[in-house]
Amino acid sequence: MPMASVSSSSSISLWSLCMLLVISGTASAQLSSTYYSTSCPEALSTIKSAVTSAVAKERRMGASLLRLHFHDCFVNGCDGSILLDDTTSFTGEKTATPNANSLRGFDVIDTIKSQVESVCAGVVSCADILAVAARDSVVALGGPTWTVQLGRRDATTASLSAANSDIPAPTLDLSGLISAFSNKGFTAKEMVALSGAHTIGQARCTSFRDRIYNETNINSSFATSLKSKCPSAGGDNNLSPLDATSATTFDNAYFTNLVNNKGLLHSDQQLYNSGSTDSQVSSYSSNSATFFSDFASAMVKMGNLSPLTGSSGEVRTNCRKTN
Ligand code: HEM
Ligand SMILES: *[C@@H]1O[C@H](CO)[C@@H](O)[C@H](O)[C@H]1NC(C)=O
Ligand SMILES: *[C@@H]1O[C@H](CO)[C@@H](O)[C@H](O)[C@H]1NC(C)=O
Repeated sequence: MPMASVSSSSSISLWSLCMLLVISGTASAQLSSTYYSTSCPEALSTIKSAVTSAVAKERRMGASLLRLHFHDCFVNGCDGSILLDDTTSFTGEKTATPNANSLRGFDVIDTIKSQVESVCAGVVSCADILAVAARDSVVALGGPTWTVQLGRRDATTASLSAANSDIPAPTLDLSGLISAFSNKGFTAKEMVALSGAHTIGQARCTSFRDRIYNETNINSSFATSLKSKCPSAGGDNNLSPLDATSATTFDNAYFTNLVNNKGLLHSDQQLYNSGSTDSQVSSYSSNSATFFSDFASAMVKMGNLSPLTGSSGEVRTNCRKTN
């Protein structure tokens, strides 16, 4: 019975594939690019103009908004949990080590949310606003665009411990970076593409001090110039650009910096340190179109991490607190 056995084995493998997607949490559930087409047709244009004006006022804001979406999605999925404020009876994620004294842009999200609420109250989730604002920020700074899938709902919970364990630390080596992203369903290749987000934005001295004083895989004149702004003790919050070549433009210069041993964070330089990802970094450094295309695809995938859909969660009216 060759036909029957072929047919039954292919339906078994299809079933296994579906179960694998469900179990690994990468199934994009019912997200759709047209989710607000009838319920809030002005949602996307309202978010875009607010992001454009925030970025025009301060270019770094584009980087800060992109990072908010990443830190939202890596902690129990893209559910707006990162935006919840601590209260006497609620512990959110804002005091987690990767977030405290570092994440910014919450006020801009509040402004966007109130503008979106005034065109259609109670319809557009905070998690979706983060996903759209991340895309619009990249576009505003000269990077690629992509179609944002929509329909995420907002969590009524948050997890400080998951924020501390699941957001990768700048002290990680390549193997640690690969596993942190693999835990979320990403390949090493996607991890490298997503790291290209560090072509924009700033880091605090405390995030790269060990690298500039103690590491050898760093250009020595680059290290020397950084030490003037980042002393060996004190100045923890002094800022330096993640991409010193073009900090407010979304381009492929981050990868060229890595090839020149000018990665700012220990974790950045790990992507080009005689390891398995060197060739991809070289390739992105000489071909921005490939980087843009891989980054856009990986951002869509990141936005699909365990969304709340259907009747799960809620659509918050104020992104800082549950309804
Ligand atoms: C690969 C693992 C990653 C590590 C270890 C890492 C770590 C960091 C650290 C330590 C900072 C500086 C924080 C500070 O000193 O205040 C930073 C900033 C930033 N990260 Fe990452 N990150 C990673 C991946 C990503 C991804 C995947 C994205 C987005 C897709 C991203 C977007 C950003 C942006 C845009 C900034 C600058 C934010 C600003 O200027 O406000 N990072 N990251
Ligand atoms: C450099 O490494 C030494 C030895 O591990 C450590 O004691 C020192 O604090 C490090 N310096 C900086 C600036 O991180
Ligand atoms: C380090 O960077 C400087 C300034 O860009 C450059 O002139 C120098 O050749 C670099 N050093 C090495 C060893 O590549």
